[in-house]
Amino acid sequence: MLITFEGIDGSGKSTQARLLIEHLAAEGYHPILLREPGGTELSEKVRGLLLDNDLRIDGFAELLLFSASRSQLVAERIRPALQSGRIVICDRFYDSTVAYQGAGREAVDREWLDAFNQRVVGGLVPVRTYLIDIDPGEAVKRRRAGDRMETAGEAFFGRVAAEYQKLAAEFPDRIIKLDGMRTVEALHAAIWKDVQALDLPPPPRDPV
Ligand code: ADP
Ligand code: TYD
Repeated sequence: MLITFEGIDGSGKSTQARLLIEHLAAEGYHPILLREPGGTELSEKVRGLLLDNDLRIDGFAELLLFSASRSQLVAERIRPALQSGRIVICDRFYDSTVAYQGAGREAVDREWLDAFNQRVVGGLVPVRTYLIDIDPGEAVKRRRAGDRMETAGEAFFGRVAAEYQKLAAEFPDRIIKLDGMRTVEALHAAIWKDVQALDLPPPPRDPV
């Protein structure tokens, strides 16, 4: 079962992904937490390139690099984990590419990108995606030092945030939008309640 977290930088995704992992582990599961870009040796190296403030990267090249990182992550970590019945939680997945490279960078049109993304992940679709919805101005206040992506500017993050809203409206059965201005605890409680309704398998009896 694949669960993903989405939202603009500083929205509180990583905090919620971590809390969910901890709660699942406390219930006896052996969930895996991954982040994008990253999670494999190659993907972490690509992450270093993508976030490097000293590199100039064209919008389409950026799209390909994020996608290369994701392709490797799916092949090396996500598929095998899903095949062994584990719950995989991913801090960002292909919706990020739709929002950041598709809408933010305006690198490619949406129809092309949807087909491409499906090729990159081999048709894998998350069971649930939690979108932490927060005003871009508020998110900036929560962020620390800016990496290459975070220095993209207000108009860019406005387009990214707007695309996330569109995605949530387009996929209401998969994407659950949560008000990121709520407390950490309230957000986790809402996520946990929803996760329990997902029909989780019983936790494994033997340690993995
Ligand atoms: P992201 O992974 O989306 O960049 P983080 O989870 O790293 O966001 O959170 C960014 C900052 O905001 C951190 O300092 C975190 O402690 C804080 N934060 C996270 N969730 C909330 C919340 N619901 N309310 C206030 N601050 C939060
Ligand atoms: P990271 O520090 O992991 O993000 P966050 O601050 O949200 O936790 O940095 C990842 C950056 O890469 C972030 O700015 C979003 C961006 N990104 C894309 O532009 N496209 C993508 O497909 C993905 C996965 C991330």
